[in-house]
Amino acid sequence: MRTRILPVSKSSIQEACQILLAGDLVAFPTETVYGLGGLGLSSTAVLKIFEAKGRPSTDPLILHLSSFDLAQAVSDGILASPIPKKAQSVTQRFWPGPLTLILPKGPRVPTEVTSGLETVAVRCPSDPSASLLLKHLGHPLAAPSANRFGRISPTDASAVLAELEGKIPLILDGGPCTNGIESTVLSLSESKPVILRPGSIDSQTLSSFLQMDVPIRNSSGNVQSPSPAPGMLDHHYSPMTPLYLCSSPIKAFSGVFEFITYADHSIPKKPNIHVLTNDQQGSTAAKNLYRTLRNADQRASSAILIDPIPNSPWAAALIDRLQRACTGTAVWSDGQWQLIPRVRR
Ligand code: TXA
Ligand code: MG
Repeated sequence: MRTRILPVSKSSIQEACQILLAGDLVAFPTETVYGLGGLGLSSTAVLKIFEAKGRPSTDPLILHLSSFDLAQAVSDGILASPIPKKAQSVTQRFWPGPLTLILPKGPRVPTEVTSGLETVAVRCPSDPSASLLLKHLGHPLAAPSANRFGRISPTDASAVLAELEGKIPLILDGGPCTNGIESTVLSLSESKPVILRPGSIDSQTLSSFLQMDVPIRNSSGNVQSPSPAPGMLDHHYSPMTPLYLCSSPIKAFSGVFEFITYADHSIPKKPNIHVLTNDQQGSTAAKNLYRTLRNADQRASSAILIDPIPNSPWAAALIDRLQRACTGTAVWSDGQWQLIPRVRR
């Protein structure tokens, strides 16, 4: 199959809708990362998503909605009533935007979407191209990140092509994603709200909005059985090159490695030295993280070493992704880097 990339326009959106309504897949931009979309209420389209990604069927998908009207989603059979009270206020405050909610599943959602769970993940993206596509389509889109399973999420159309060329007919190109990391996943289906995947809408923001502690659940699932956060696999978001998190800020750029520094420490400009931010901001680090990892990965060095992530509202999300991607820790000792593999759970 030939994979085409078309810039977002009225005609490419129309074409995307035709492909989707015929049951095929289209990759599209969102404010977080690119999604691999298929009709969310069609089992066959959803199965195609799992196949194109090589994703285990135990890892459920997010349904992307065009509207944040939860009552409408109930009457459309996407959600089941009663909707948790907090969901209304959270969606009014944070939708459209990079927040996924885990809510009771309605009768029209195929079991393939939820991996058999009684809850469904829903989100209303704020990216204008994603909104336009969803409005035009008039149907929820099931969409995981548009990468092969376990690999780095794509944040531009060329990264989608590198991941899925030949597996899907169309990629809508809306330019680089503004956020750069996946949405926060908040469960409102348990006795208390809990974050299953940290993202740009952080624990402190949600805690102060809900006026209660909203913790991040620190657990990993496995591919055999859906856990409350089935996609939170221990090993995920990985480059091909082994990635090591440095135990202290990188000062020695020696050894045949790729180095990702958090900010420019007035270091020499060399092809194996990559700078994550030029302004020390967590939001910039997030926006650049996956592209930088891909660039470092392409140079086929023996290892990628990355600076510690300093504190900011984005730190929990960045550290979460890096910990899942990493092979171990790098420690500078006796004039050389010691690469210590982590023990996998
Ligand atoms: O930013 C994003 O969320 C992107 C864009 C494309 O919207 N999508 C994305 O999808 O990251 P994916 O499939 O890569 O991650 C979805 C996460 C997984 O960790 C999955 O396990 C979790 O949401 N999830 C989905 N349904 C769930 C459910 N019913 N209960 C708990 N976790 C669920
Ligand atoms: Mg993903």
